[in-house]
Amino acid sequence: MNQAIYYTHLISVTAFLLIYLVKTILLLSNKEASLSKFTKGVKVPEMIVSTLFLVTGIYMLINGPGATTLQIIKIIIVFASIPVAVVGFKKKNKALAVLSLLMIVAAYGLAEVNKKRSLQGTSVTSVDAPEGAAVSGHDIFMDRCTSCHGDDGKLGLSGAKDLTASTLDLDSKIEIIRNGKAPMAGYAGVLTEEQIKAVAEYTATLKK
Ligand code: HEC
Repeated sequence: MNQAIYYTHLISVTAFLLIYLVKTILLLSNKEASLSKFTKGVKVPEMIVSTLFLVTGIYMLINGPGATTLQIIKIIIVFASIPVAVVGFKKKNKALAVLSLLMIVAAYGLAEVNKKRSLQGTSVTSVDAPEGAAVSGHDIFMDRCTSCHGDDGKLGLSGAKDLTASTLDLDSKIEIIRNGKAPMAGYAGVLTEEQIKAVAEYTATLKK
């Protein structure tokens, strides 16, 4: 996915949340004058931010690997929160304002869960190991392992071990790659024994 779009999305969502957080706090503390001043002040930035966040969100959805159930729930929550927020702030209804803020925060939380899941899923979903498939440990590693371990084995995403610091012997590595060790999925049935051995040997070469 396009990193620039992703970060624009993240930043605009965060800015949007902050604006709503301030508004909700002002409303809750009965600072009506400050609230209307703030609302006027952020009118244009808020428009820019919310447009950016919707446009980038839709872009990622269209160009992404296909919407998951969680993503759909998230989108429904985001759209449902808009009228709640509009009515809440117009009528100065504190319960509705807080509710709309909670909905957006919940959607944001779902997005994080979703991301973690898809990170775990990536290595396994695109899997089929036809005969004569690559046995180059390097190629297999670049294909399936870098999302967590990084190109050099040091990345450590999702709690992955730094492979350059691994003290395991080849057999134990093969064992972990074959059967997995949560949250890393096992590759038995995904990679052939030959490929598992090749990629295990490759990880050993990462050691400096
Ligand atoms: C979803 C992320 C993820 C992917 C993809 C992934 N790993 Fe891992 N890997 C981990 C995590 C997390 C650990 C640590 C597990 C533990 O010890 O609790 C780990 C541990 C390991 C270990 C053991 C290191 C040690 O010293 O304990 C090896 C070897 C390893 N991975 C190799 C690979 C190889 C080869 C691939 C690709 C075929 C791969 N991993 C793909 C997350 C991942």
